[in-house]
Amino acid sequence: DGGDRDTLIKAHELAVKLYHYLLMNTTHGQAALQYLRKRGVTDKQIDHFMIGYAPPEWDTLSRFLEKREFDSALMEKGGLLIAKQDKSGYIDRFRDRIMFPIWNRDGKVIALAGRMLGEGQPKYLNSPETMLFNKSRNLYNFHHARTAMRKSRRIVLFEGYMDVIKAWSAGVHNGVASMGTALTDEHAAILQRNVDEAVICYDGDNAGQAAALKTIPILERAGLRVQVAMLPKGMDPDEYIEKNGAEAFMRETIEHPVSSTKFKLLTAKKNHILLEEEGQKNYLLEAVGIVAVLDSPTEREFYLKELSREFDMSLDSLKQDCFERRQQLQ
Ligand code: GTP
Ligand code: MN
Ligand code: MN
Ligand code: MN
Ligand code: MN
Repeated sequence: DGGDRDTLIKAHELAVKLYHYLLMNTTHGQAALQYLRKRGVTDKQIDHFMIGYAPPEWDTLSRFLEKREFDSALMEKGGLLIAKQDKSGYIDRFRDRIMFPIWNRDGKVIALAGRMLGEGQPKYLNSPETMLFNKSRNLYNFHHARTAMRKSRRIVLFEGYMDVIKAWSAGVHNGVASMGTALTDEHAAILQRNVDEAVICYDGDNAGQAAALKTIPILERAGLRVQVAMLPKGMDPDEYIEKNGAEAFMRETIEHPVSSTKFKLLTAKKNHILLEEEGQKNYLLEAVGIVAVLDSPTEREFYLKELSREFDMSLDSLKQDCFERRQQLQ
């Protein structure tokens, strides 16, 4: 009920403050702070995103909450604690991890994500789905991004927490991330109420590219215009910013997204050997299929013309193929 929700939010807010304090002001947090600094995370970012550190002990948070008379069973239901196997009590869910609070739309902390300090599995541990937290409805940083997204009528979608945080310092104040899950129709519907356009800025690896291809129709179905800001192979936004700086990130990627159609064409192109006739033909046919789904005749002609120039083909034959593909769509 509402009382339980309020209590859980209160506990989350206290946990965030505790973890942030431990990171910034105690020796327990020093290795974590060092790790963050090594990754280029600034104090300003740590403060703005209320990053913290959960120490390795089993009972840091559980004792802290018990002392303040929070009901442990409720804390377990809310994902902050875990019941011991033998049911003799509760332990902390998050141990020896860098902690990122997850806010809801009203700016209340409803969940946490914890990253390991090094390599290992799972790299990130999120709160489970609870009465407060629904992964398919919440987006990381949506609350902070709201003002900027409404002003620009645009949202930038990242894959990860670190991407959102680094990009925020680079000047992208309308950045959000879905948290280790694919973007859902519910996410898209929420975004559609605030913006007209989405820029996908996923990792420059195969997984990121595949995820972008899946995300495009979800956003478009919701009525958003979609563009894709592409990154060099194998780099994510966080790495790009660390390597090339904020200015280059803005100039080279965020400010020059390609249309969703262009992105699909570029991705398709990579799957064909264009030095071979067969590869060229197959790409052209796939490309025509990509263009065929566009509703606007002008847009279709725009891309078909580009293809006709690129491969020295007559526009007529491409248009004919495109027409036939459209017939099949119906
Ligand atoms: P860093 O290595 O800290 O820079 O993380 P990243 O954001 O680059 O991670 P990656 O590209 O591998 O994954 C993107 C996002 O997926 C992360 O930010 C998390 O939200 C989520 N994710 C990654 N690994 C895990 C995991 O092991 N468990 C869960 N639940 N989510 C994960
Ligand atoms: Mn602080
Ligand atoms: Mn990745
Ligand atoms: Mn990444
Ligand atoms: Mn990363």
